[in-house]
Amino acid sequence: MNEVRTRVVIVGAGPAGLLLGQLLTLEGIDNIVIEQRSRDYVEKRVRAGVIEHGVAKLLEAAGAGARMLREGLVHHGVEIRSDGVSYRIPLSELADGRSITVYGQQEVVKDLIGLRLDAGAPLYFDSEVTAIDGLTNGSPVVEFEGPEGHVRVTGVVVAGCDGSFGVSSRSIPRTETRRYERTYPFSWLGILAQAPPANDELIYCRHENGFALYSLRSPSVSRLYLGVPPDEKLDDWSDDRIWHELTTRLATEEKPEINVGPILERGITAMRSIVIAPMRYGRLFLAGDAAHIVPPTGAKGMNLALADVRELAQALSAKFTDNDERLLDAYSATCLERVWRAEEFSTYMTQMLHPSYEDDFENGIQRARLHQAVTSREATTLLSRNYVDLNSL
Ligand code: PHB
Repeated sequence: MNEVRTRVVIVGAGPAGLLLGQLLTLEGIDNIVIEQRSRDYVEKRVRAGVIEHGVAKLLEAAGAGARMLREGLVHHGVEIRSDGVSYRIPLSELADGRSITVYGQQEVVKDLIGLRLDAGAPLYFDSEVTAIDGLTNGSPVVEFEGPEGHVRVTGVVVAGCDGSFGVSSRSIPRTETRRYERTYPFSWLGILAQAPPANDELIYCRHENGFALYSLRSPSVSRLYLGVPPDEKLDDWSDDRIWHELTTRLATEEKPEINVGPILERGITAMRSIVIAPMRYGRLFLAGDAAHIVPPTGAKGMNLALADVRELAQALSAKFTDNDERLLDAYSATCLERVWRAEEFSTYMTQMLHPSYEDDFENGIQRARLHQAVTSREATTLLSRNYVDLNSL
C-alpha cells in the first residue's frame, strides 16, 4: 500500500477542487486532488457557462484567466422575453460597470488541470475514495483505490469538493448536519448546437408552453434550454420537436427565427435546491455542490463553488501560515450567508420564468413579478447586481 502525507486532501477535481488546489499551491500549502472520474470525463462535462465579475477576477488572480480573457465572451446585458415581448436588462449600466463572462465550465476545468499538471502538483484521476476517517480525532485519513493500487493519505484537513453524490457529504453523520431541500416541478432539456448564436446576449424567456433559454459558447456554437415537465424523457424529443419548441417560445415579432444546426449534445436535468448546514464536520470542509445545489436559472452553481473555495483557501492560508483558525471556524457561517442569497436569487429567477403547468393563479402572479422585474428600475437594478456579482457583493 502507498502512503502519502499532505496538508490538504482535496476530494473532487471539478472547478471547486481544482481552484482550491491552485490557490493553495500558490500559497505554498501542499495538497493533493483525488478524482473518481477520468480526466477526459471531467474535461467534457458540460455545465452552465456564465462567470460572475468577481469570480472572473478570482480566476485571473489565481493565474487561471489567460484563455478565459482571450476566448470568453464579455456580456453587458441580458434579454428577458415574456409572451413574445422582449426587454433588455442593461446589466453593466445598473451594476457599476461590472459584466459577466460567458465561458464554459469545462473550459475552466481544462485550464485548471493544465496549470496543475504543469506545476507538477499531485492529481489522481480514476481514483475512488473508499474511506474518510479521523475527522474528529487525530489526523484525517483518506483512502482511495486508483490505477496504481490502494493509497492511504494522511492530511491535516479534508476539502470535500466532490458534488452532491460524492463520498464527502456522506461521511458526515446524519445527526451532525441538516439538509434543506426543495424540488421544482420542472426539468431542463439542454442542447449544444453547431449554430451561430442568433443573438449577442443571453435570452431568458417565459412562454405559456414553458421556459426557454438562449445561451452560447462561441461564435459558432449555441447552447439552448427548454423547461419541460420533471418526468420528461429525452427519447420523446426529436431534433425537429426541440427546434420547433425553441422557435415557438423564443419568437418575437422582430426576431421570429433562431439559428438551427446539428445538435452536438443533449441532456435532461432535474431542478432542485439543496443546502447542507453546517458545511463543516470536524476537519472536513465542504465546498461547491457537495454542500449546496441551486436550480440553474441564474447560473449560480459554479460561481458559488468558486466563491466557497476563495473563502476556504484564505482560511487555510491563515491556519497554515499564521496558525490562526478563526477564519476556518467562521467558514461555514460565512459561506452559508452567501449560499442562501444565491438560493433566494435562483428561486426568484426560476419562479419568475417557469410558468406553472397547473396553477393559473400562480401564473398571474408570475407575470406581475416579471413585469416588475423588467420595468421597475429598483427591481432591475437588484436583479442586475445579483446576476452579475452576487458572490462578491
Ligand atoms: C449556459 O450557458 O449553459 C447557461 C446560461 C445561463 C443559465 C444557465 C445555463 O442561467
